[in-house]
Amino acid sequence: MNICVIGIGYVGLVTGTVFADLGNDVICVDNDKEKIELLNKGIMPIYEPGLKEMVQSNFEDHRLIFTTDLSEGVRSAEIIFICVGTPSRDDGETDISYIEEAAKGIAKSLNEYKIIVNKSTVPVGTGDFVREIVDKNKEKDVDFDVVSNPEFLREGSAIQDTLDPERIVIGAPTKEVAMKLLELYATLEKPMLITDVYSAEMIKYASNAFLAMKISFINKIANICESTGANVSDVAKGIGYDSRIGNSFLNAGLGFGGSCFPKDTRSLLHTAEKFGHDFNLLKSVIDINDSRSSHFVNMMRKKMGGLKGKTIGILGLSFKPNTDDMRDAKSIEIINIMLSEDAIIKAYDPVAMENAKKIMPHIEYCESSYKAAQKADAIAIVTEWREFKLLNMERIKMVMNRPVIFDARNIYDPEKIRKMGFEYYSIGRG
Ligand code: UGA
Repeated sequence: MNICVIGIGYVGLVTGTVFADLGNDVICVDNDKEKIELLNKGIMPIYEPGLKEMVQSNFEDHRLIFTTDLSEGVRSAEIIFICVGTPSRDDGETDISYIEEAAKGIAKSLNEYKIIVNKSTVPVGTGDFVREIVDKNKEKDVDFDVVSNPEFLREGSAIQDTLDPERIVIGAPTKEVAMKLLELYATLEKPMLITDVYSAEMIKYASNAFLAMKISFINKIANICESTGANVSDVAKGIGYDSRIGNSFLNAGLGFGGSCFPKDTRSLLHTAEKFGHDFNLLKSVIDINDSRSSHFVNMMRKKMGGLKGKTIGILGLSFKPNTDDMRDAKSIEIINIMLSEDAIIKAYDPVAMENAKKIMPHIEYCESSYKAAQKADAIAIVTEWREFKLLNMERIKMVMNRPVIFDARNIYDPEKIRKMGFEYYSIGRG
């Protein structure tokens, strides 16, 4: 099938590449000239395991093209995927101006019937909005349909999630249109839900909000565990065995960051309010999440007798492991609180330091965990990169000023780490 993907961010690049890998001819369009030039040289704009290799092989086989020419992409495609960014406004409302821009661009080049698919996360009703914009701006009297096909990939496992999704949701105006999308995804042999456009748009927000709710729930339980002496890891395991609850997204820690959950929960809250619904539950999910960084730093301050003049080694900066994405990373909040209290920060992350430097140019960046721990009064595990679990802890202890670990992601076994001579504090574990 001939496909055009507009917006080569996380979702667009991964989606386009996987479609090409499944044997389709894909034209990826972005108005960022520099990004397109780099992609044409084989340089990836993001770090994502397995992406570079997949882009390379499909690019070499001419199934994957990167261009700034929107009309070339639109004209040659049967299906056009809109994957542009949908950032948050200050009041939580989703800014769909890039969607509008893409829809206008599509309209101008529309030469025959096409299916236009919204893959970006967009509020309910955006399908109608795209329809209106294209209708108003099209230069030829041709027909088209608008479909919602939300994306459920996670950063860090984006390729795997796209190739092996748990479900594919298609919100289409008619069965015939849905069938065209089904055809595209058929080779994946995964459960597909066909529904209307509004429901598909809502499924995306409800999914992310529900997962965010699980995280805030377990984080609140973690606070109570800290006061009562219970162990949140065991509690999460104990409740997670119940298949009605499920064991995923129950890791207590710093709460959710990244480019999706913070933005999407706020957007759903905004939609609820717009339609006159008081979504207090979701408000609490957001409030609990907003308090996680200060909760962690409070614990450090209390145990260390203040942070002023203390050297803290920060291990992990990205919002989660296996990505260099710093958007809404908890490390930024934590470091900013520490700096405001005159702590000295030495940070290390396996891949996110270049991006972190753009946001926090004023802290010291180290080339390894050992360098970050050197002469530190404490280290804080902020992102649960696998390599932190495999550190030579004797070596870490030797280089530190005081062997104190604050583990915001519960990656170590408290008993074992204490036996090694560390003073150890974690989340919700007594
Ligand atoms: C999330 C969803 O998981 C994807 O299904 C969705 O497609 C994507 O948003 C999106 O809307 O585009 P992502 O933001 O990449 O994916 O990352 P997650 O793995 O969901 O983690 C989000 C945040 O929650 C991270 O900060 C992570 O550290 C935190 N988290 C996750 C926890 O604190 N505890 C957990 O148990 C799980």
